[in-house]
Parts: sequence; structure tokens; C-alpha cells
Amino acid sequence: TTPQLLASKRVVITAGPTVEAIDPVRYLSNHSSGKMGFALARACVAAGAEVILIAGGKVALPTPLNVTRIDVLSAKDMLIAAQQCVDGTHSELQLDLEDEHDHSHEHAHEHNHSHTHEHHHSDCGCGDEHELPQAYTEHQFVKADIFIATAAVADYRTIDAAPQKIKKTQDAMNLSLVKNPDILATISLAHPELFVVGFAAETQDVERYARGKLAAKALDMIACNDVSRADIGFASDDNAMQVFFSERYERDAITLDKASKDKIAEQLASIIGETIAQ
Ligand code: C5P
Repeated sequence: TTPQLLASKRVVITAGPTVEAIDPVRYLSNHSSGKMGFALARACVAAGAEVILIAGGKVALPTPLNVTRIDVLSAKDMLIAAQQCVDGTHSELQLDLEDEHDHSHEHAHEHNHSHTHEHHHSDCGCGDEHELPQAYTEHQFVKADIFIATAAVADYRTIDAAPQKIKKTQDAMNLSLVKNPDILATISLAHPELFVVGFAAETQDVERYARGKLAAKALDMIACNDVSRADIGFASDDNAMQVFFSERYERDAITLDKASKDKIAEQLASIIGETIAQ
């Protein structure tokens, strides 16, 4: 049995890509599979945590057992969902405690849509006012203890998605893009008491860039992989990581040798539990 290092902790995890609409039928996205975030959700549940998993884009993975899953598309919606989950103001309608193998999140999703008539607006810090992605109506006010950002958030989105399908009448066209909010930095800076974990994919100078992000985004811990290696990362089932900590923990960096994302996730969940207990 797994040591219950995260017993009674509430963990919010972002996973997968984000999808940024160009028009009603087209979007900008990336190849993130969501595997690392889903593996972490499983590992945190096994370590005793209560887990809310915010999946961006169209992650085609089954919802892990005993995990509350919230599906969003864009970075803006992911930020709203993350803020509400961290503050504990998301809706109970998102609860999904069905079996991991039955794609029950699809049903949960349909169920949600039937409750999504009430529109709310929120100022998430991205500069625009916009509707919430789901029906966030029932307030629980149970704040999260840990926030883990594994999502591969699109760096840019279209300024405005075209309301109708864009026609191929012109020989050339330009897309105007605007920077997306940094979900991890926004959440971290707004919640100094939250234990915040970031991920980074680097191709060189892994430690220097990782420590830079640790400081810039006010993280407690960052896990990095070297994506110049073909055998790990993104769609791969394997990963290898270096973990760095905020100076306040006086913890040395940890190297996790190449292993399945499930094994890496178990190790990361233990490391988070040990660090919080310090
Ligand atoms: O700055 P960079 O994109 O390399 O940072 C990666 C980390 O920041 C990951 O943990 C990722 O989930 C998070 N991130 C985010 N929102 C963004 C960009 C990155 O949460 N817009």
C-alpha cells in the first residue's frame, strides 16, 4: 500500500493541451497528451489526496478513479476553472466518481451542459470579461492545498475567434495572436499559502531555466524534463525528471531516472508529500 503522504490534502491539477478557437471549426493547439497530469492525479489519489483534474483541449484519456474531472478548452477557461477549484467555488456538478475505464466523463459532460444555462462572468486577470466554461453555481469554499500545473498551455490565442467559418477566398491571410495568461504564475502569485508545482520542458541548460521559472512564477517546486531526448516527454509513456525546490525548503535537487509516467508520478507525489511535511 502507498504511504498516505497526501491524506486530507486537496490537490488541483491542470493537464493536456489548450485549444484556442480560430473560427467555429478550426483551432490552434499542441500535441500534449495529458498523460503526465492524469498519472499524477492517480498517484495523488493513491497517496490519500482529494483530486480535481482540469483537462484542457480534448484529452482522450479515461478519468482516473475517484478524481473530479473538469473539461475546458481554452487557456482562459482553464484559468477560470483553476481559480475556482483552488478557491473551492467550483460546482459539485463536476463530480465524477465512476469507473476509470468507462469514459464516464463524457456522460458527466452531457449532464453539465444541461445545467449550463446560467451564465456567469468573471474577471480572471486576462484582461477580458467572459463567461465561465461550466455551471459554477454551488459553492463549497474548500480551498486547495496543492496546485500542480502540467498543462501545455498555448502561449498565444487568436484576438477574437471569427463568429463564422473563414472562407478560402484570399490567397494569403494573417492571424493576429495575443499572449495567453500564465495560469501557473497567476494562481501562485495570488495564493502564497498554496503549495505550487510547475513543470518545464527544456532542450538545454535545464537547471538554469528551471530555477529561473521557479523564482519568476513563485513556485515551491519544479519538475523538468529534457525534451531534446527523443525517448521521453509529450506523447511518450516514459519520462525522466530533475526536481528543484524553492530555497525556503533547503532541499537538494532530485533526479528521477527514466521510468513510466506512472512511476514518475508516484515519486513526485511522494516528494510533494515529504516537502509539505517539512
Ligand atoms: O514558461 P513555461 O511555459 O515553460 O512554464 C511551464 C509551466 O507553466 C508548466 O507548469 C505549465 O503548466 C505552466 N504554464 C501555465 N500557463 C501558461 C504557460 C505555462 O500554467 N500560460
